[in-house]
Amino acid sequence: MIEWEDKFSVGISEIDEEHKKLIDILNKAVFANEHNGNTVETLEILGNMIEYSRKHFSTEETYMLKFKFPDYQLHKNEHLDFTDKTIRNYRNFISGDYQIANEILEYLKQWLINHIQVTDKRYIDCFKKNGLI
Ligand SMILES: [Fe+2]
Repeated sequence: MIEWEDKFSVGISEIDEEHKKLIDILNKAVFANEHNGNTVETLEILGNMIEYSRKHFSTEETYMLKFKFPDYQLHKNEHLDFTDKTIRNYRNFISGDYQIANEILEYLKQWLINHIQVTDKRYIDCFKKNGLI
């Protein structure tokens, strides 16, 4: 489980809210996997996670483009890499590789914490300069 901490905040409320929601979905998947051992539910929540992460990446990328953020492409590549890996794992999971659940959830957790604290923090100055609060 990931508990929201102040150090995760990028100081922009719309983006913090979306990050909180992503963490919330991931925690639900971890709970379903650990406590219920419920693969159908875990899969469903992972599907929600993929869907919501796309919406969230699009929020960030739209602002990056609008504000001409210089590292837009690099940042977008991280999002694409995440989406590719997650969808591939999700498909393996669907086709019966249930052992992969723990691995997927651990990858999502590490990626999310790292991406929020390192990569996302790089756009803060640019976004704030352009009026986001
Ligand atoms: Fe991002």
